[in-house]
Amino acid sequence: MNITERIQRLKQEKDAVILAHYYVRPEIQEIADYIGDSFYLSKTAVGLKEQTIVFCGVSFMGESTKILNPEKTVLMPDLAADCPMAHMADEEEIKRLKCTYEDLAVVCYINSTAKLKQYSDVCVTSANAVKIVKALPNKNIYFIPDRNLAHFVAEQVPEKNFIFNEGYCPVHEKMQLHEIQKAKEEHPQAEILTHPECPEGIRNISDYIGSTSGILKHAAESDRQEFIICTENGVRYELKKQNPGKTFYFTETEPVCEGMKLITLEKIAHVLETGENEVQVPEELIRESVKPLQNMLRLAK
Ligand code: 13P
Ligand code: SF4
Repeated sequence: MNITERIQRLKQEKDAVILAHYYVRPEIQEIADYIGDSFYLSKTAVGLKEQTIVFCGVSFMGESTKILNPEKTVLMPDLAADCPMAHMADEEEIKRLKCTYEDLAVVCYINSTAKLKQYSDVCVTSANAVKIVKALPNKNIYFIPDRNLAHFVAEQVPEKNFIFNEGYCPVHEKMQLHEIQKAKEEHPQAEILTHPECPEGIRNISDYIGSTSGILKHAAESDRQEFIICTENGVRYELKKQNPGKTFYFTETEPVCEGMKLITLEKIAHVLETGENEVQVPEELIRESVKPLQNMLRLAK
């Protein structure tokens, strides 16, 4: 029995389902029951019939899944798969700003720890941040942890006052403008499709800015044949699968999320077999951090 067959058998035995983000390795995307961006995965995780959810992604994703589904067993193939940005905000600063600004909404990118979510009013993902911020009655918005997504949203919601935090995604932050410009010179017909976690200089030369699923949708619907993709390289697999006739270029320095790439088929089989790496969130933290996640699901409808 090969590893894929072993995982399929274990899934049935353990009443388990596999969710995966587009940034994980192609062979994981191949065996996942549900694959998507952060918003799709958080919606999908609610109401699944299986008792066990194996989350192939980074820790804040497994944690959010547990918070939204406390009665389920959530397993992470590798507990070391973390997102550095998820820790880049400060609870004390949130408390200070809440005292300073009357009418402050703390808007928390889902790429954050449960500890940060518990002090937040609403979560967002890159797919729904603009819509949700526009829908809030509050004028003052403290957007954590990502400064790049915050600035992207602020540009589109000029009627609100944004307070920025200095967090960032190391993968998107490190992308080099000159490498993208070089790719554009070599492929002048190519459209530049960019994730909003990228810095302003890259966003400014882009033809489209959107979440991972937004990039996929745009590439499928565009009549162009070539695209320069400014996001993590795992998305290449789905782009090619959906558009076999189109060509996708990434920057010369491949954008790789180390946490996402820690997930392997062997680790999935191992956690299914042993029940190891179960996500644990204290009850009180679940009670506090579920509110902004539920607010996101309601406001994004
Ligand atoms: P999306 O899944 O919202 O596109 O975000 C990308 C990301 O960095 C996930 O960690
Ligand atoms: Fe975090 Fe960036 Fe990796 Fe997304 S790509 S999980 S934001 S480090």
